[in-house]
Amino acid sequence: MRKLILTVAAAVLVAGAAPAAQASGGSVELLKTDFSWDGLFGRYDRAALKRGYQVFHEVCSNCHGLRLVAYRNLAYVGLNEDQIKEVAAEREVQDGPNDEGQMFMRAGRAADKFISPFANDNAARAANNGALPPDLSLINKARPNGPHYVYSLLQGYEETAPEGHALPEGMYYNKYFPGHNIGMVPPIADDSVTYADGTKATQQQIAHDVVTFLNWAAEPELDDRKSMGLKTLIFLLVLTGLMYALKRQIWKDVH
Ligand code: HEC
Repeated sequence: MRKLILTVAAAVLVAGAAPAAQASGGSVELLKTDFSWDGLFGRYDRAALKRGYQVFHEVCSNCHGLRLVAYRNLAYVGLNEDQIKEVAAEREVQDGPNDEGQMFMRAGRAADKFISPFANDNAARAANNGALPPDLSLINKARPNGPHYVYSLLQGYEETAPEGHALPEGMYYNKYFPGHNIGMVPPIADDSVTYADGTKATQQQIAHDVVTFLNWAAEPELDDRKSMGLKTLIFLLVLTGLMYALKRQIWKDVH
């Protein structure tokens, strides 16, 4: 029995200590960073979330969709109603049919999901040298170690491929992309954005902020879930105390 416990404890220790940051290819170790929402009591850093939205809006949304998020959800990121209406109205979406049975185009509204930059996948491919920019709503969950992977990917471009690596025309070399040949132009560099809150926009800062935003897109309920978990823990602790007091009361004459 003791041996079993020791074995289980050792297995847990080993599993816990295994490198947390492996690229999906398995060979390259991802860049290390801390995210505010990690850990039992972690929460989204609201300032980072707002900066990350700015990056997504100004840079990534030119090629990538976010079709599971509605514009009105941006209230959580810190946009007010007018700002939300304004962002939604920047793009047009097909609606209808109207009374005559015709489909028509109209400006986006707060209740719409993010309108994709391209009409369809073929148009997206045609504009990107044949590569399809995936929708980013769930990217942080769709890739192993998603947040660290995307954070690394955005900073993983090399000017030239290593000796002997064949880089096809129109592709870029990225250390962290499986196979290393990626069809996305390096999207960010130092000062690609000018932050509204005055934060210095290093490449690393931009990557960190946009990954925060993408994590919120994939897991908007995280903050609520963790608050609920904490309340439940406190409730259970209080209940345990009450039960113990009750037990002592009931059994006091017996002892
Ligand atoms: C000029 C268009 C363009 C812009 C701007 C752009 N991307 Fe991309 N992105 C692409 C294309 C094209 C691909 C597909 C690459 C491939 O499959 O080779 C891609 C792929 C990706 C992937 C998926 C990688 C994988 O593992 O499959 C992620 C994550 C990503 N982009 C994040 C971002 C973020 C974050 C931004 C904003 C900072 C951004 N992109 C800006 C075109 C773009």
